[in-house]
Amino acid sequence: MTGTPLSAAASPSADFAARIGACQARIEGVLSDILRLPDPGTERLREAMRYSTLGAGKRLRPTLVYLTGESFGAQLARLDTPAAAVELIHVYSLVHDDLPAMDDDDLRRGRPTCHRAYDEGTAVLVGDALQALAFSVLAHEPMGDVGPETRLEMIRVLARAIGTGGMAGGQAVDLAAVGRALDVAAIENMHRRKTGALIQGSVLLGALAAGVRPGPELGALAHFGAEIGLAFQIQDDILDVEGDPRLLGKSIGADAALAKPTYPSTAGLPASRERAHELRDAAIAALEPLGARADALIELAHFVVGRAS
Ligand code: IPE
Ligand code: IPE
Ligand code: MG
Ligand code: MG
Ligand code: MG
Repeated sequence: MTGTPLSAAASPSADFAARIGACQARIEGVLSDILRLPDPGTERLREAMRYSTLGAGKRLRPTLVYLTGESFGAQLARLDTPAAAVELIHVYSLVHDDLPAMDDDDLRRGRPTCHRAYDEGTAVLVGDALQALAFSVLAHEPMGDVGPETRLEMIRVLARAIGTGGMAGGQAVDLAAVGRALDVAAIENMHRRKTGALIQGSVLLGALAAGVRPGPELGALAHFGAEIGLAFQIQDDILDVEGDPRLLGKSIGADAALAKPTYPSTAGLPASRERAHELRDAAIAALEPLGARADALIELAHFVVGRAS
């Protein structure tokens, strides 16, 4: 799988599809530059980091940074740093998620998973190093005239999104739930944490880099991010049941094979689709105070639940 078509499934306008394609191409270059790390003696680790990060993936999280930031008047160049940070975190989460100790998957983004292409120890370290690199990037890389206080706030927002209250905590709940039944509320809580929190964080980082200060607009964006983040994971669960592995670049049926409680296994496919649409509409409604500045995020929200990959 090359250059995953972020926009193909949702039939967006040609202009919007081109814009998404530009975000994907841009972050590829930014990440490739960032991943030219010196550190002699770590060649295998650095190669595995590039292998896991470059060349594929929808780049949804960086795209959220770019679209949100641009909606509030930021130049793309100023958004490269937070866009890279969120994708580095996301890739770290995928590499660890695929490990035998977690989901034990062999295929990711159309290629062997990191631990398959390299080895388990290297995959653990790839995740460790990508996470450290994300925060290093956020602390040090150029970000226009964004001041130290805003940088610190961005670091805080990202850390909160991926710690015990967010991604890592959600993944812990996911592991503990294997072979058990969860009710819909518990599934939603797990999904909001393991996946929704970083998606919400991506929206917030884009806004903060663009100079949006805490207040109603940031609150509206946070609400949007939370709802669309949950919708994204519900759609991921749906695609694990009925998706096309060639489009997804990963195996399907993996959740059922591992006896993971998911949205479809708990509520059924029709209710899952309905809930994803309801969340998309709630996300879009949350953007109302933003007026025309919400247009790009609204288009992206349609993609998130319409996507086939
Ligand atoms: C997959 O994320 C893991 C989840 C959080 C559901 P994506 O579907 O965004 O994966 P890539 O980045 O496009 O490969
Ligand atoms: C992954 O959820 C969530 C994170 C990586 C934090 P899944 O386990 O459902 O993602 P896929 O289906 O393997 O991409
Ligand atoms: Mg998982
Ligand atoms: Mg998984
Ligand atoms: Mg999944």
